[in-house]
Amino acid sequence: MRPAALKGFLAAQERKTLLRVLTCGSVDDGKSTLIGRLLYDTKLIFEDQLKALEKDSRKHGTTGDDIDFALLVDGLEAEREQGITIDVAYRFFTTDKRKFIVADTPGHEQYTRNMATGASNSDLAILLIDARKGVLTQTRRHAYICSLLGIKHVVLAVNKIDLVDFSKGIFQTIDREFREFATRLAFESIVSLPISARYGDNVIVASTNTPWYLGQSLLSYLETVDVDTELAGKAFRMPVQWVNRPNLDFRGFSGTIVSGSIRQGDSVVVAKSGRVSKIARIVASDGDLATANAGEAVTLTLADEIDISRGDVLAAPNARPEMSDQFAAHLLWMAEEELLPGRQYLIKIGTKTVPASITELKHKIDVNNLDHLAAKTLQLNEVGFGNFSTAEPIAFDPYTVNRDTGAFIVIDRFTNGTVGAGMIEFGLRRATNVHWQALDVNKEARARIKGQSPAILWFTGLSGSGKSTIANIVEKKLLAFGRHTYMLDGDNVRHGLNRDLGFTDADRVENIRRVAEAAKLFVDAGLIVLVSFISPFRSERRTARELVGKSEFLEVFVDAPLEVCMARDPKGLYKRAQAGEIKHFTGIDSPYEAPENAEIHLKTATLSAEDAADLVVEQIRKTGIVH
Ligand code: ADX
Repeated sequence: MRPAALKGFLAAQERKTLLRVLTCGSVDDGKSTLIGRLLYDTKLIFEDQLKALEKDSRKHGTTGDDIDFALLVDGLEAEREQGITIDVAYRFFTTDKRKFIVADTPGHEQYTRNMATGASNSDLAILLIDARKGVLTQTRRHAYICSLLGIKHVVLAVNKIDLVDFSKGIFQTIDREFREFATRLAFESIVSLPISARYGDNVIVASTNTPWYLGQSLLSYLETVDVDTELAGKAFRMPVQWVNRPNLDFRGFSGTIVSGSIRQGDSVVVAKSGRVSKIARIVASDGDLATANAGEAVTLTLADEIDISRGDVLAAPNARPEMSDQFAAHLLWMAEEELLPGRQYLIKIGTKTVPASITELKHKIDVNNLDHLAAKTLQLNEVGFGNFSTAEPIAFDPYTVNRDTGAFIVIDRFTNGTVGAGMIEFGLRRATNVHWQALDVNKEARARIKGQSPAILWFTGLSGSGKSTIANIVEKKLLAFGRHTYMLDGDNVRHGLNRDLGFTDADRVENIRRVAEAAKLFVDAGLIVLVSFISPFRSERRTARELVGKSEFLEVFVDAPLEVCMARDPKGLYKRAQAGEIKHFTGIDSPYEAPENAEIHLKTATLSAEDAADLVVEQIRKTGIVH
């Protein structure tokens, strides 16, 4: 090719639109055969694009020297930074009319999370059906996940049509049954095709074996379908990845534009503060730009000095994202460990990471028939719907409006692993309508009149380790010094405030959450609060600690080996637990996570309760809680 012709050819490639396709089905349905056919019958992977991809793979890739096709797909950023391995294969091919990325994930139920990852990046899904088997539970599950993850266009590929004698009747029955189910899902288009991946009928070209089928072949449909992925047409959003400040004269905000476009001189607003400014410069790797669009990584400088940091969202002032610290969302749980409502996790939305918890799980969804089921937790691969609360207001859009600013991942605070993926449905206004009441009498005033520094003494340990006995002596001693105290004891609180809770992990999390909040109120009242609960999980003890000031929380690990507690067995509960009469008993069939750095560590196998209490009092004297 002559240079000019080559240039034109490459420019045409640039202009071709990209369609991101997810394939759903199992090997038995003929998925691999179909993908193989599409890829190899078109035989058009371009050398230059492969080169670029290879270069990129070496820079960011996780596949060593091999090409990392996942890099072709944007939106995977969060997963990549988290370093979790999601089993999705991306294949790339192109025709004269369009470029394609095909995401392929294993089809079985246990791989729901992989499928969700593939779906979150796709414009269209091909649901494969074996014509002999018809619409299966698996088909319905795939359709639901696709709909949940925002895929609007579905191709129902009724495969192996050759094995049912190219029967029009069978094809129509399958088509009708699927459409009936899909009325409850949010698809914009459903197109059914009779195909034979094996022999190629209606895959690349129309088949003479199905004269009754007058539609397009699969490939020509994929080449022409309008999926309206015009991210550039949406409202401008750019989560700030970092503040670029090489010297005093330059302060730029770097990030990738996830939707919309901007031009020099446009107004932008910082979603959190509501401060508005104008874009002074749009700086890209090869110089200044007049405009920039969704998908581009840029650095913006603004006309005014305003406060912006990593995690902030820059947006169009006339179409701002929502700001709230409470919202309702769908959640796909991706961890072996169950979801615990009330537990504090981290959520990452855009470039912002904040502590958050699910305050109420409304229901889980049976993805096989879309039924809503009552649920207290979510297990691996389950989908639920509930209310979330974040430690500070965050900027977002409903997922149906913007798949980038409406999606988040959930991270475990201890393992740092990704445990869930969420899709925000709507913000909850009630949070913004409840304001803090400014009170004239505050914690300091209440504490001063009592002549003490309020604090929480948090006793944790196995049942029978001596928590309550020691806490009781400590309280008596404090009282003797004229201190003002209050005691929250597990057995007692469970008769009142927490009488609705049992001993499952989820209930224990809620038990401790409420007690921690109550203890915080007592601290606010100026009291020294003694809390005596097994409180078996590190996560909730940490949350309790973070509710009050650094110097206001002392963790007391009442440490006795399980055998010692079992020998003591003051309430006869260990005996019953061992006999199987009590389920989820701490130390028997429910875990206890010992503190790693408690302020006070009491080994009660050798220490008397009196001596242990003296140690506690001595320690709190040192910290100044008791002068
Ligand atoms: S926690 O784990 O949620 O912190 P909490 O301290 O409130 O437990 O309650 C523990 C007390 O409940 C124990 O001292 C014991 O008397 C009683 N109990 C009854 N069933 C159980 C159980 N399955 N596991 C532990 N304690 C139990």
